[in-house]
Formats: sequence, structure tokens, C-alpha cells
Amino acid sequence: MDRGMDGVLPRTPTLADESYLDFYEGVRNLAIREFFPHVAARAEQVADDAGLEGRGSRAPIEQLVRVADADPLVAMWKRIMRSQQHASWRRVRESLYAEAARHESELNAAERRRPGRLHYDPTFQVPDYAALDIHLQPGGYLREPLAGRLFHHGTKVFYQGENDQDELHQQVVSFVRPPADGRVARVLDVGCSIGQCTTALKQRFPQAEVHGLDVALPLVRYAHKRATDLDIDVHFHQGLAESLPFPSGHFDVVLAYILFHEVPEHLFAPIVAEITRVLRPGGTFSIVDAPNGTEFPAGNRIWMQFDARWNCEPYAPAFVASDFPRLLESQGLTLLAREQTPTFLWFTACEKPL
Ligand SMILES: C[S@@+](CC[C@H](N)C(=O)[O-])C[C@H]1O[C@@H](n2cnc3c(N)ncnc32)[C@H](O)[C@@H]1O
Repeated sequence: MDRGMDGVLPRTPTLADESYLDFYEGVRNLAIREFFPHVAARAEQVADDAGLEGRGSRAPIEQLVRVADADPLVAMWKRIMRSQQHASWRRVRESLYAEAARHESELNAAERRRPGRLHYDPTFQVPDYAALDIHLQPGGYLREPLAGRLFHHGTKVFYQGENDQDELHQQVVSFVRPPADGRVARVLDVGCSIGQCTTALKQRFPQAEVHGLDVALPLVRYAHKRATDLDIDVHFHQGLAESLPFPSGHFDVVLAYILFHEVPEHLFAPIVAEITRVLRPGGTFSIVDAPNGTEFPAGNRIWMQFDARWNCEPYAPAFVASDFPRLLESQGLTLLAREQTPTFLWFTACEKPL
């Protein structure tokens, strides 16, 4: 049965699922807030003991991982992080799929609902690079029809209860830099996933026409259902950031929230070029994503390598190592702002020159 909503969060199929996920949210909280500072300190210590440069901040990552993995505290932390991901996804997936037909028919029925519209082409070819089980999500973003709802429950755990009412998406959108002339008639959320920033953008810019685009059809189908359930007038598209289905100069504001660390490095420049094309002169592009182009202590490097290797984030290391502000400027954009958000993510804003 449908257990309704807790604000903007759909409740899990059963109360037992809710309790199970609550336990894993607690495990993740413990692993990150209580356990990780000790893991980071231990990683630095063993790196230093092994004579690695900069207490592990500058040594080749393979050397650091070899030394750190031999430490039981580090090894146990990695095991907990990976098992927590597996367990959370598996439980939600089993519950959703017990009633797959009902969930799919709800998505089908929602396709024709308004106020917003859903755009996709059944012959759309998804590139292979996007077909990974990112974050260990079973079937990834593309191969499971219910991937959108699965992502919503799974990321509730990922965000450790701090995004149950889209609070972090609202915070991201609060960073978005409007154009200097204040004109915001059209807004695009690239790599919108299930549309939590897209709906928050509409709330921030109520007069604007707001669009969300993502390569994954299961995600944008769910995003559309979710937005129509909330009666928020936004439009969703299945499409590619490197080949946007919009005319040149169409948008005043573009946002990419944690998109770039999930795409292969060879696409960074084509995606920025394409976003620059669809921006009007004076339009702005805001990016919130992993930090990059800086040195990290051993603990952070261990975590990033864990994510890349054991949490299916294979593209992230190249983003973190890149000089992203320079890439933005090389595509003709002018940098306006760069600062850390209240989370570990960084905010960057740039403008298409007049
Ligand atoms: C971490 S998720 C982004 C989360 C989302 N912005 C949010 O508000 O939660 C990255 C998203 O980028 C999408 N993506 C990856 N490559 C893409 C591409 N080339 N074009 C469009 N979307 C892409 C993925 O399908 C995924 O939904």
C-alpha cells in the first residue's frame, strides 16, 4: 500500500523498511561523523610512519592506499561504508519491486499530468559511460525503471537525514548567482536527477520557465511525477549535457549540481562549451561540486580513492585533480565567485560575457 508522504519525502513501502533504513542512516552517520576523524588521523600516522611524503598528502595514491589498507581501523571503516551502501539499496529495491507493477503504472499515469511537461524520445541512445551502477545503486540510473524512487530513498540515507525535505537542494539553489541585470526568464538544471534542485529553482525564481535535463529516463520520469505531485511547474527532458536540445542563447541561468564528478574527463570541456552556447550573453552558470585543483590530507585521499574504487565513482578522481576554473575560462566564461559551501562541496559561478 501507499504509505503517503512525510513532507516532500515519500515514505518507504513498509514501516519495517523505514526502521531498517533508519538503522543504516545511523550507521552511516557514525561512520562519517564519529569514526572517520579517527580513520583520517590513523591514515596520516601510518603514512608518516612509512615515510610517505607530506604525511600521505603528496605520495602516489597507490602507495598511500597500500599502507593505509594494512591498518585495521581504515580497513574496517571501508567495509562498513561499502556494506551500508549495499544493504540500503538492496532493502529498498526488494520492497519497491515487490509492487513494481503498481509503481510503474503510477509513473505511466504521471507522464500526462501537468503543470510541467516531460520530454523524451524512445529512440534516444544512452552512451555507455553513463551506464554504471554509480554509488553501487543496483541497475544504476538507467537500467531499472524504478531507479528514480530507489535513488530518492537511497539518497535520504546518503544525506544522513539532512535532506529529507530537500534542505540541501534548497541550500545549493540559494548559492545560484543570477545575472547582473536581474533578468531570469529561463533556467536550466543540468544533470537534474530526480529534480530536487529543479523544483527548488522554480521556488527561488517563480516567474521563470524552469527545465531539468538528465541522461537517465527513469530519473526524469520520477522527477516529473514528483514535481506534478508537488504541483510545481517545471519541465523535464532526457538528454545529454554535451548535446543540449535547446537553442543558443536560450537560458539566463544554468546550474550543474554534482554533475561533473560523474562524467568522464574528456566531456568536461564539451559540456561547458554546450552550456556556454545555450546561455545568453550576461547569463550565468553556477556549479556546485567536489573540490578540485588542491592538495588533500591522507584521510580525504583515502576516502576519495575508496569512492572511486569501491563506491563506483570512477570519474571523480579526474575532476578532483582538474583545474576546473581554468577550464571554465578556456571556454570563454568569466569567473565571478568561488567558495566552499557549508558542506565539503565548492560553489563556482561564472558569466557569459556580453
Ligand atoms: C549525482 S547525480 C546529480 C544529482 C542532481 N543534480 C541532484 O540534484 O541530486 C549526477 C547526474 O548526472 C546525470 N548525468 C551523467 N552524465 C550526464 C550527461 N552527460 N548528461 C546529462 N546528465 C548526465 C546522471 O544521470 C545523474 O542523475
